[in-house]
Amino acid sequence: MKLVKRMLLLLVGVGLLVACTENVETLENPDVEEDIWITDEAPLKIGFAMDTLKEERWLKDKALFETAIESHGLEVEIAAANGDDALQIAQAEEMIQNGIDLLVIVPHNAEATAAIVHKAHGAGIKVIAYDRLVKNAEIDLYVSFDNEKVGELQAEAMMKLVPKGNYVFIGGAPTDNNAHLLKKGVFNALQPAIDRGDIKIIYDEWTEDWNPEYAFAHMAEALEINDNQIDAVISANDATAGGAIEALEAQGLAGVIPVAGQDAELAAVRRIVDGTQMMTVYKPIQDLSEQVAALAVHLAQDKEFHPTVSINNGKSEVPAVLLEPVAVNNDNLRDTIIADGFHSEDDVYGTE
Ligand code: GAL
Repeated sequence: MKLVKRMLLLLVGVGLLVACTENVETLENPDVEEDIWITDEAPLKIGFAMDTLKEERWLKDKALFETAIESHGLEVEIAAANGDDALQIAQAEEMIQNGIDLLVIVPHNAEATAAIVHKAHGAGIKVIAYDRLVKNAEIDLYVSFDNEKVGELQAEAMMKLVPKGNYVFIGGAPTDNNAHLLKKGVFNALQPAIDRGDIKIIYDEWTEDWNPEYAFAHMAEALEINDNQIDAVISANDATAGGAIEALEAQGLAGVIPVAGQDAELAAVRRIVDGTQMMTVYKPIQDLSEQVAALAVHLAQDKEFHPTVSINNGKSEVPAVLLEPVAVNNDNLRDTIIADGFHSEDDVYGTE
């Protein structure tokens, strides 16, 4: 009886998943058979090796992925390395020794994690890269958002407001492939205006570990060396945008100079409401976590999945699923973030 109920739950979950990601290649009908249980005692087990739980979104990713995997009747083992490459490798090794059937990884360092993929494959375990790409290793699947598009959405929103002027770019962590994709997207969109001489990039720095304090220091330096003559700031995520806005605040320029971010963090959404941040890019991580969970079940059962999209990671053409990011400002906040239940009306507009 329990198994029939679980299979029903699973089919409902997958049906939902297919419905909400119509335009993205997903699993049509992942037929789940009894063999999600290795033996009567043990269901399949998925390892989730995360980089960090420092940013708000990763706490959500962790909870959502855990729920999604358990809704398929599988077990999940989760660890976070908080930016320590050696620790992430050791944590993944431990999961492999603990008998996981598939590894899902959020790499801290796109290059360093190649070693983990080799170890997993050596043990006959497939690897899915979650949100961030692993470079120079033959990973089995990459599922993320279109991160170049994240950058394009930020730049397009900013150019609508500031078609001409001095721009500051606060980049993400250089160890994170997403930071490079995002930057490529920003400059894809800005380049024509830069070539026309309308827009000038007067400051452009990576932010080690996406650390808001480093972003604060970058912004303070940009203000100082440019005598506060800045018209727009594009920051790679909301955490770094928060650091940059603090530096603007110190010069009485918060809400005066528009700032773009990413991740739809609650603090950032509140800044959009009070006018100190201009926009953020919302990524429905509910869809990401459910997609990866369903694909992990599928691949852990040695079933095939051949999406038409692939990304070259320096070693191979990696099969990929890329979800759509959404630009959010004060006008569409309710129709996107709140409508999806990503944040509640009260959390965004209510008192502290
Ligand atoms: C990136 C991710 C962003 C951001 C950042 C910091 O890889 O795409 O959403 O949060 O990591 O952890």
